[in-house]
Amino acid sequence: MEAAGWPEPVVRVQSLSESGAATIPDRYVKPVHDRPSVHNGTTSGSVSIPVVDLSSPDGSAATARAVSEACREWGFFQAVNHGVPRELLRRARAAWRGFFRLPVEAKQRYANSPATYEGYGSRLGVERGAVLDWGDYYFLHLRPPSSLSAADKWPRLPPDLRDATEEYGREVASLCERLMAAMSAGLSVGPGRLQEEFGGAEGAGVCVRVNYYPRCPQPELTLGLSSHSDPGGMTVLLADERVRGLQVRGRGGEWVTVDPIADAFIVNVGDQIQVLTNATYRSVEHRVMVNADAERLSVAMFYNPRSDLPLAPMAELVSPGAPALYKPMTFDEYRLYIRRKGPRGKSQVESLKAHGDR
Ligand code: OGA
Ligand code: NI
Repeated sequence: MEAAGWPEPVVRVQSLSESGAATIPDRYVKPVHDRPSVHNGTTSGSVSIPVVDLSSPDGSAATARAVSEACREWGFFQAVNHGVPRELLRRARAAWRGFFRLPVEAKQRYANSPATYEGYGSRLGVERGAVLDWGDYYFLHLRPPSSLSAADKWPRLPPDLRDATEEYGREVASLCERLMAAMSAGLSVGPGRLQEEFGGAEGAGVCVRVNYYPRCPQPELTLGLSSHSDPGGMTVLLADERVRGLQVRGRGGEWVTVDPIADAFIVNVGDQIQVLTNATYRSVEHRVMVNADAERLSVAMFYNPRSDLPLAPMAELVSPGAPALYKPMTFDEYRLYIRRKGPRGKSQVESLKAHGDR
């Protein structure tokens, strides 16, 4: 089962879950301070991430204000009335549920490698002996098209999966373009500036990661996805409509569990937008809990800058009183870190800051 490039044989979490074992292997047991019962601060059931209504016409000042405030305060919000048809959300979820419910053997031909991560995967990072997360996933580049041939890249089953995912990707990408304009207007730099930094609408990259978290016999000892910030531009998450699991770090350091609104998206700022905005907008840590009773599926779309452009804080947001916090780096260089080391909180963007003196 060893795919080229992984440091040790890859084990599918689905297989572990279906084995019926009452305990999880040691490889999945997190250090005590990372376990989901430890809140690292106060939690309050009454606190939640903001909700932003996107129904007003494009360019609305009120929408830009609401988006901008959420990106400054939380780095996360739920987007309602976003315009992506409900039927398409249903199709995308149904197609990927169908895929992950196939037997493990039927999926092995799509096994991924750390060279591009595209395909069926069960770990992030290539460090031998690393503590692993309780989840399998499928990762794909939608734009620009990758070098993998469609036959190796796209699952053949379920039959609707490719069409549903491509259509879903187009719709969510155009939503991201609207959100980019609102984020930009909320910085008072002109509605097209952030998109321009991404290499235009044509230059932006679009990837999808479908996360599948099987049932876990000891959910209190592990995580479905360890704490991380998203390395790219922004993320649009379609969370499971039945099962909660996503937690976001609040300003006081506490973990806040997100209660997804039906058919809403959960939008969050990634590291590249934190860099471009000189930390006006914040890329915030988040993680995923698993549970014993129900599996969970989520579809994350990543909207990224063109990967070969050096990105640094936008000139308009830098002044003698507010020096540039980050040195220029391309997204191609930047994403190697998480691909090698796996999810590690906010350590990468913080480390960039330590050298932000040029
Ligand atoms: C991600 C992510 C959250 C979830 O894929 O980067 O944070 O709820 N997913 O699956
Ligand atoms: Ni994430």
